[in-house]
Amino acid sequence: MYCTRKVQDDLIWVGADDRRLVCFEGVYGVPDGVSYNAYLLLDEKTVLFDTVDKAVYGVFLENVAHTLAGRKLDYLVVHHMEPDHAATQELLLSRYPEARIVCNAKTLTMMKQFLGCDLTERAIVVKEGDTLETGRHRFRFLMAPMVHWPEVMMSYDETDKLLFTADAFGTFGALNGRLFADETDFFGEHLDEARRYYTNIVGKYGPQVQAILKKAGKLELACLLPLHGFVWRSHLGDFVEKYLLWSSYVPEEKSVLLAYASVYGHTENAANILACLLNERGVRVRMFDTSVTPASYIVSDAFRCSHLVFAATTYNAGVFVTMEQLLHDIAAHNLQNRKVAIIENGSWAATSGKIMRELLSPLKGTEFIGDNVSLKSALAEGQLAQLDALADLIAEEISPKPAAVEIPAIVTAEPVALGPDAVDKKAFNKLTYGVQVLTTRVDGKDYGCIINSAVQVASGEPKKMAISVIAKNYSAEMVAKAGVFNVSILTEDAPYSLFQRFGFQSGRDVDKFEGLPYDDRTANGLRYIPEYTNAVISCRVTEVRDLGASILFIADVDEAKVLSKAPSCSYSYYHAHIKPKKNPAPEQKEGWVCKVCGYVYEGAELPDDFVCPLCKHGKDDFEHVVPDQKPKVKGYVCKICGHFEPCEGELPADYTCPLCKHPREDFEPAEQ
Ligand code: FEO
Repeated sequence: MYCTRKVQDDLIWVGADDRRLVCFEGVYGVPDGVSYNAYLLLDEKTVLFDTVDKAVYGVFLENVAHTLAGRKLDYLVVHHMEPDHAATQELLLSRYPEARIVCNAKTLTMMKQFLGCDLTERAIVVKEGDTLETGRHRFRFLMAPMVHWPEVMMSYDETDKLLFTADAFGTFGALNGRLFADETDFFGEHLDEARRYYTNIVGKYGPQVQAILKKAGKLELACLLPLHGFVWRSHLGDFVEKYLLWSSYVPEEKSVLLAYASVYGHTENAANILACLLNERGVRVRMFDTSVTPASYIVSDAFRCSHLVFAATTYNAGVFVTMEQLLHDIAAHNLQNRKVAIIENGSWAATSGKIMRELLSPLKGTEFIGDNVSLKSALAEGQLAQLDALADLIAEEISPKPAAVEIPAIVTAEPVALGPDAVDKKAFNKLTYGVQVLTTRVDGKDYGCIINSAVQVASGEPKKMAISVIAKNYSAEMVAKAGVFNVSILTEDAPYSLFQRFGFQSGRDVDKFEGLPYDDRTANGLRYIPEYTNAVISCRVTEVRDLGASILFIADVDEAKVLSKAPSCSYSYYHAHIKPKKNPAPEQKEGWVCKVCGYVYEGAELPDDFVCPLCKHGKDDFEHVVPDQKPKVKGYVCKICGHFEPCEGELPADYTCPLCKHPREDFEPAEQ
């Protein structure tokens, strides 16, 4: 019996789940199964986008037949020739003999190799930028070599802004009836499997993924349709942001991957002690026994974490086998820019540390932390200090201690006499993990800043709110002085200029309200923002807490009103849709780029006999790329507002962003 789902009225998912597969590609365990997605368009012409793995051919063919409902199939678009998407092509093409194959030249060659027959007669061969009109829709083809094979291409529907992304944006796991990512708690439940899929399948090809992200970044996108996992029709930016990190080998979080290989438990014991020491210092540790956890999971977390610690015993005068396999795997996936610490063990001739270093040293941007900690059979009492020192070094890099902050003296404000209906409870329904404008007033002057921390903390009487404000932010001092504040809840249509006005300059230097065409105030006399907001809540401070770099204000609510029905702007919506995206341009170096698969050879001269290690094409297929010669300036960029601070060494411990006043911890190294 067919089993399909509608993507939109004229586009139907005709793929299938496989929950019996043990190992995807024979190596990656898929305990939650996998989906093979194919999509069928019912326009004036009918178009099937890809086929499926042979394991699910039966239901797939039923899905296609049912969806076509007697119509002929006009086109089969082939985005990728790997058999998990192409193994049923032959069956499909024999069942629909009129169907023309839309593919690129490399795909056609591979079809001949896999199917053993020449399909040139049936093929419409396309290249970058070619289009296909099917009636209401017009598709443009984008070549995406090495995402994940050299023949991969994507299709962009210029009509409905759909992007068929081949393997990109895929996720391990069966769909289980949920076709769209927004039908799941994706970032809570599926991100780990999306990361494991990405890092293990295409992790090696970061520059090629960056290249296609750059192309896609110029397109208006309403929907991403991958060949595995969920379809993305909302919050695309949140997932694209992950791809930008993964493909540029930037850690997703400041945390430690601690992987160990231990035969009799002594190396494991040292790893456990280090894990305790790190946790005591507030460092998050993700820990794995390489003999228990399959490498694909550890590789995935190596892409996630900023710091990697490998602890392994010596074995056969080398490194223990499961650790050796893991490190080979990490190297094969081209992981870069990680800080690495090594713990070795050996009862008579420890060699594992040296070999682990040798395996990881060739990876670009690898930095080793200190010397190897070397155990002789077991951690000796006197060596605890070495682990302590290692934990200190890592903790200092991951979470430097914030400078002490002085809490300003708090003024207790008198409540304003208001009627019983002053607090509209519906205003609290507008609170999300969102962004708000905090306003206050001292000595006749208005102040405001952007916060993302307003929450209702008591719903009885009196209703209470809490906000936290960066201690060095002028607004923190002003709220403390005034003893009152307003929270205006921003909506999704808020322009970036509003964030620039209230978030990226200081009330010490400018009047943030200058030039605003409104002067709306609540009963407490404070201004609020009547545009691009859906509620305002007026509060009177009752308690204050020192949170280190921030100050927590707890306050009674005196007044609350709903301003509009527009949806609140969540923090992730702001990042995905309002904050301008950083350009993911690959690092520019003089080199030669393979026009066939995108492989980059670094260097001024390409030897005449050079053969592309990925697609085996020769020098004639390479293009010489000479970067902009302007010298780059080293520094740090603020992750909040984008301010670039030129700096050769470390930013001072008490450094704060001159624009948005965020502390040093919100900066990351950058070059401009
Ligand atoms: Fe899903 Fe590269 O195949």
